[in-house]
Amino acid sequence: MRKSHKATKPQSHKYKGVIERYRQYLPVSSKTPIVTLLEGNTPLIYSCYLSKTLGKNFEVYLKYEGLNPTGSFKDRGMTMAISKACEQKAKAVACASTGNTSASAAAYSVRAGIKCIVLIPKGAIALGKLSQALIHNAQVLAVDGNFDDALSLVREITEKYPIVLVNSLNPYRIEGQKTASFEICDCLGCAPDFQVMPVGNAGNITAYWKGYKLYYAKKKITGLPKMLGFQAAGSAPIVRGHPIKNPETIATAIRIGNPASWKHAEQARDESGGLIDMVSDKEITQAYKILAARDGVFVEPASAASVAGLLKLSGKGYFKQRPRSSTGRTQRVVCILTGHGLKDPDRAIKSIKPPKTVKSNLKAVLKEIGY
Ligand code: F0G
Repeated sequence: MRKSHKATKPQSHKYKGVIERYRQYLPVSSKTPIVTLLEGNTPLIYSCYLSKTLGKNFEVYLKYEGLNPTGSFKDRGMTMAISKACEQKAKAVACASTGNTSASAAAYSVRAGIKCIVLIPKGAIALGKLSQALIHNAQVLAVDGNFDDALSLVREITEKYPIVLVNSLNPYRIEGQKTASFEICDCLGCAPDFQVMPVGNAGNITAYWKGYKLYYAKKKITGLPKMLGFQAAGSAPIVRGHPIKNPETIATAIRIGNPASWKHAEQARDESGGLIDMVSDKEITQAYKILAARDGVFVEPASAASVAGLLKLSGKGYFKQRPRSSTGRTQRVVCILTGHGLKDPDRAIKSIKPPKTVKSNLKAVLKEIGY
């Protein structure tokens, strides 16, 4: 006999997003309406090529955050920021963005049914990201200035009017983003020895470090990673020790001259015994191509800054080949790949030779492919 099918919501997937998964470590209560697109739970991919490059005592993993619902790590913070905004009965949120924050804020605001206002630096964000903010019906204003100018405007507006700021200055953003470090530890069964990541407005390095320290305090891990952050050379205020007035780089996501979480980034660096350094656009492009061609992982240029940094440090002999007997185990390095390559397809096309045109006949095609 056939079973009758009731029209119910599918119950098949148990995964409910980062807030439900890590509820005990997050400032939410039964009163918080959870706004989620089932973000998080992203893969930690072993990189054969990078592991070999570092040497036999190292394993390199890629935390592919581009597989979040809107294509970047921002969703982890946005589920928290928008859920808390709803708890506070907010009607509107606003952010300044180099693209990914706005894409995420726009999508989560739609889920919550609240207005989303976005200020972007005019002409300086990747097309994929702009299309996301627009299609999710955010009110997008292109500011005739850079990200730092847009951020100070949004800060002023949200201080004066009943609009919630959802940049990473909003503490709930940091709370949500710290879940990525929990996932890494849960997956490896321990903390990595090193974590390499891009640094822009510096919220993410702040969040990861907060997460690792919390897991350590809760005795979920017995050690802490060294935090290795990388800025783009043309936008490297923390490395150079002063704000950059006109930041430049092909990695538009991290084209930021005066990071909001500057001090917290330095704290993560210093407390962990790590470093914050910079990589050139050339190094970023090389790493971008290596990830795509060797590991099959397509990221946006800002994300490739982490791998560019890893390769730079490796070239300088930073990763010491300790004999196995002295540590008893392999050292683990995790590179954070913050956003998907499809966010910025223009950059991919510009970095590689265009396809060759051939005549539309079998002979011509076979000749080209060598058969
Ligand atoms: N990688 C990507 C892909 C980003 O979009 C960002 C920041 C970063 C790295 C740097 O993270 O700012 O926490 O240090 N994007 C922000 C935005 C600024 O507006 O989307 P951070």
